[in-house]
Amino acid sequence: MRAIALRGLWLLAVVGTARAEPGPSQTQDISSASMCDSIDSVPVTFTIDYQSAIQGIFNANCVACHTNTAPPLPAGLSLDPGVSWSAIVNHASSQRPGLVRVVPNRPDLSLLFHKVNCAVPDVGARMPYGGPYLSIQDQALIHDWIAGGAPSGTTDTIFRSGFEIRD
Ligand code: HEC
Repeated sequence: MRAIALRGLWLLAVVGTARAEPGPSQTQDISSASMCDSIDSVPVTFTIDYQSAIQGIFNANCVACHTNTAPPLPAGLSLDPGVSWSAIVNHASSQRPGLVRVVPNRPDLSLLFHKVNCAVPDVGARMPYGGPYLSIQDQALIHDWIAGGAPSGTTDTIFRSGFEIRD
């Protein structure tokens, strides 16, 4: 009996440690984000060009703050043209390193998507900070770009058009 109880405690300790200090390649489930907008009414977009569509959203809504040209850089994140993609894709959050800004194919694990989609994201405030927030069309474009693999070029329609990419 005692051995079993002790083993249980040991397991709890291991799990507790793993949660507290996630390794650099681990991604956490950030489903604790809440009060998220539904994008179900927006038709799925299969062909999305990063430079024109996603960088376009950043230029219009984000770079007023997230720019290297006017420090300080919020959360160390530059969304300037030319540097934004490598600053977000497979890049850990500076505020909570266990979270990843954009996980290719997984909008549900991508902090950046939750930051624009949810009133209560897992860390900090909804973006753009203080609003106005993105239209559900722009939120859906970011979702579908991530679901399409988050490429620096254009999402590939050949393998995507046959099945539903929304959750
Ligand atoms: C008015 C200034 C402002 C605007 C505009 C803005 N942000 Fe932010 N952003 C911040 C601040 C301040 C923080 C740090 C505090 C926080 O997370 O709430 C932040 C943090 C973030 C983070 C978290 C980064 C990390 O590593 O933890 C992401 C992702 C982000 N913003 C994305 C965006 C996106 C995408 C847009 C445009 C749709 C945007 N922001 C627009 C000020 C801004």
